[in-house]
Amino acid sequence: MPAHVVVGTQWGDEAKAKVVDFLAESADAVVRFNGGANAGHTVAVDNDKFIFHLVPSGILRARTKCIIASGVAIELKQLCDEIDELITRKIVVGQNLLISENAHVVMPYHKALDAARNKLSSGTGTTARGIGPVYADKHAYMGIRVNDLFDKKRLLEKLRVSLKEKNVVFERIYDIPPFDPEQIAAELQPYAEKVKPFVANTSLYINRLLDDGKTVLFEGAQGTMLDIDHGTYPFVTSSHPISGGVCVGAGIGPQRLGRIIGVVKAYITRVGNGPMPTELKNATGEHIRAKGGEYGATTGRARRCGWFDCLVVKHAKRINGLTEIAITKLDVLDEIETIRICEGYLYRGQRLTEFPEQSDILNECEPIYAEFPGWQTDTTEVASFSDLPDKAKRYVSRLMEAVGCPASLVGVGPNRSQTLLAQ
Ligand code: GDP
Ligand code: IMO
Ligand code: MG
Repeated sequence: MPAHVVVGTQWGDEAKAKVVDFLAESADAVVRFNGGANAGHTVAVDNDKFIFHLVPSGILRARTKCIIASGVAIELKQLCDEIDELITRKIVVGQNLLISENAHVVMPYHKALDAARNKLSSGTGTTARGIGPVYADKHAYMGIRVNDLFDKKRLLEKLRVSLKEKNVVFERIYDIPPFDPEQIAAELQPYAEKVKPFVANTSLYINRLLDDGKTVLFEGAQGTMLDIDHGTYPFVTSSHPISGGVCVGAGIGPQRLGRIIGVVKAYITRVGNGPMPTELKNATGEHIRAKGGEYGATTGRARRCGWFDCLVVKHAKRINGLTEIAITKLDVLDEIETIRICEGYLYRGQRLTEFPEQSDILNECEPIYAEFPGWQTDTTEVASFSDLPDKAKRYVSRLMEAVGCPASLVGVGPNRSQTLLAQ
């Protein structure tokens, strides 16, 4: 079965892009199926570093088609900037990028609303990329899709309908001047022209690739704990970053899915607000942040860091039906003397071994830790899994046991070459 899925198992930033880039070497296509420019996906190749927000992370592989499917919310200027940067850096884009005609478009008023809501309440602490508002419009039948951009009359009509309500909210609640539909349509024009050659029926295209036996990799954005239904609601994002989101977001049937690879950071991070039982608000947390470069690839915010949480990843295994995991950033733990992993939570005197569904329960959970002796050896130069220090191998085995599936890859540094096959 050649449809393989890569999803985040934690709160995002698990290094999904590095795994996708690695696997894309043998993929015919890479498909983004959820989220938007809230994602920040980093790929490092030799001395070059790329950060993708909308373009799939397979784009550095010249023979791989990259597809932005209908489940993605597209911010046109951001997409055009990414395309321009890739062209400047001599990466083949022309024949290799396809964009769904049904993907929803993030409008300036979505971003303004997102930012205004962030200011008004402490809330989720979103990336302010307009993600909540654009998906809200989609589900309220008020969204504007890529295809609408090419019919000026229809575009203006849709903008007018959407802004009729929103301009009242902007003026009365947020003290923000109203948006003008004509001006928005005019500003979008050059970007619409630029993306037009890439626009296609991507569901048809992907299904044909699969019918022809081609290998298609689906690149999740965000992580399972940010899923709108299965994450730590309301501290979540507005899409489905889970394997089930592939079928909805890309328009393929579930029987197509083969490998479901959960990307698992060797510790845990979270950006934005919301519960995180194993968060380390101490020198160890700061050490991990500094060593792991844990600053948001989209907003630059410091990521909250904590010990590996087995309950989070067990939850992700169940929700996604993971067949395997890819463990990343093992090297970040290289210097730590005693490593902890959370095996349960203490909640009002009771031991919980499954991740609770309610965020308010999580706020009262105390992690129950097991301790592991650190390997205190530099692993960044290790070239094969068998050469890892025994204590590091033992840690990897414990993570596999905790999740309940085998690891296929282990990351020991940001570079493409620092990826070990865990056989
Ligand atoms: P994504 O959103 O899941 O694709 O992850 P991000 O790109 O936001 O964050 C992952 C960060 O870790 C990036 O800066 C990567 O370059 C870096 N990275 C990826 N894998 C490794 C690894 O195995 N070790 C280290 N030290 N850094 C890594
Ligand atoms: P990648 O794909 C980490 C978080 C935000 C906020 C919440 C809602 O790089 O792993 P949103 O802007 O989506 O409405 O914000 O979700 N968030 C991410 N955290 N990695 C991401 O993407 C994220 N995308 C959104 O910080 O807490
Ligand atoms: Mg990221």
